Amino acid sequence: MADRKIIAVVGATGAQGGGLVRAVLEDPAGGFAVRAITRDVNSEKAKALSKLGAEVVAADVDDEASLARAFAGAYGAFCVTFFWDHFSPDKEKAEARNMAKAAKTAGVRHVVWSTLEDTRRWVPLSDDRMPTLMGQYKVPHFDAKGESDQVFVKEGVPTTFLVTSFYWDNLIYFGMGPKPAPDGTLVFTLPMGDARLPGIAAEDIGRCAYGVFKKGASLIGKHVGIAGGHPTGAQMAASLSRALGREVRYNAVTPATYRGFGFPGADDLGNMFQFKHDFERDFVGARNLDEARALNPSLLTFDAWLARNKDRIPTT
Ligand SMILES: NC(=O)c1ccc[n+]([C@@H]2O[C@H](COP(=O)([O-])OP(=O)(O)OC[C@H]3O[C@@H](n4cnc5c(N)ncnc54)[C@H](OP(=O)(O)O)[C@@H]3O)[C@@H](O)[C@H]2O)c1
Repeated sequence: MADRKIIAVVGATGAQGGGLVRAVLEDPAGGFAVRAITRDVNSEKAKALSKLGAEVVAADVDDEASLARAFAGAYGAFCVTFFWDHFSPDKEKAEARNMAKAAKTAGVRHVVWSTLEDTRRWVPLSDDRMPTLMGQYKVPHFDAKGESDQVFVKEGVPTTFLVTSFYWDNLIYFGMGPKPAPDGTLVFTLPMGDARLPGIAAEDIGRCAYGVFKKGASLIGKHVGIAGGHPTGAQMAASLSRALGREVRYNAVTPATYRGFGFPGADDLGNMFQFKHDFERDFVGARNLDEARALNPSLLTFDAWLARNKDRIPTT
């Protein structure tokens, strides 16, 4: 244990961080130990990680000093923010800053920062193809992460920028699964037209992060885009039809229609899908499937993910 390099994991009880914790624990000969960070070391999820063999420590991404304590002595740190817990890009940027500063204070030698594109590099605020949101963003939960890349650079923290993708799991947990039409057919709605949507199992993000830590120095300073597949909406509907054993029809609404659905974050997500659609070449090109699989050989395609999870997708 003492000679293993410690990876401190923010969000360890969640989707991305949890994947990394499990990847480290499943590879005892890999030379790494894992330190799971949680706000509540006594929660059931935290206790379960401890039982699996993780060191579990308390910290809060809103409290830089607590992060510096949690990162102390660690070789690596996995940093992720939780936009959908608060819907605030400004809070997300402050959290990224806290993690970058804490990593610097603790002398962490390799940070993996879970990030996304700052879409304003492609769609400046003056571009009215989509509305500007909250005064200064096009896709708030993307832009805040992409903007925060610079914080890690400015702090001089050795960082790999892990550029993530749409979770396949959104079909279970984010209300994005197929819904029944009045005629009983299932309808899968996405404002993506015929464009491809890079996607990944949330767990695989953490597993790819483990691959980044194992590869080490050669990936510091690099952006590494990951996805398990690049299916179109129509291909996803066909996969869903096969997996569920009933017809699933693709319903390609416009981004404006999607923004108007009215659920919290619909405008942010409508803009996000429009960005992915309008800049398909860049967006897909930034997420190389072979490179992701090299980092994580157990990477799941959409079909493979469906084979494991089809019974958990709500269809009512
Ligand atoms: N959904 C998608 O398609 C998608 C795709 C790419 C990126 N993302 C991004 O992924 C991020 C979320 O990651 P995730 O899905 O892994 O999150 P998650 O599953 O919701 O897990 C979040 C975990 O983080 C911990 N946490 C929450 N607030 C915290 C705080 N203030 N301090 C410390 N820990 C805190 C919680 O653990 P405790 O309760 O144990 O503290 C929780 O278990 C979001 O920023 C989102 O934009 C999402």
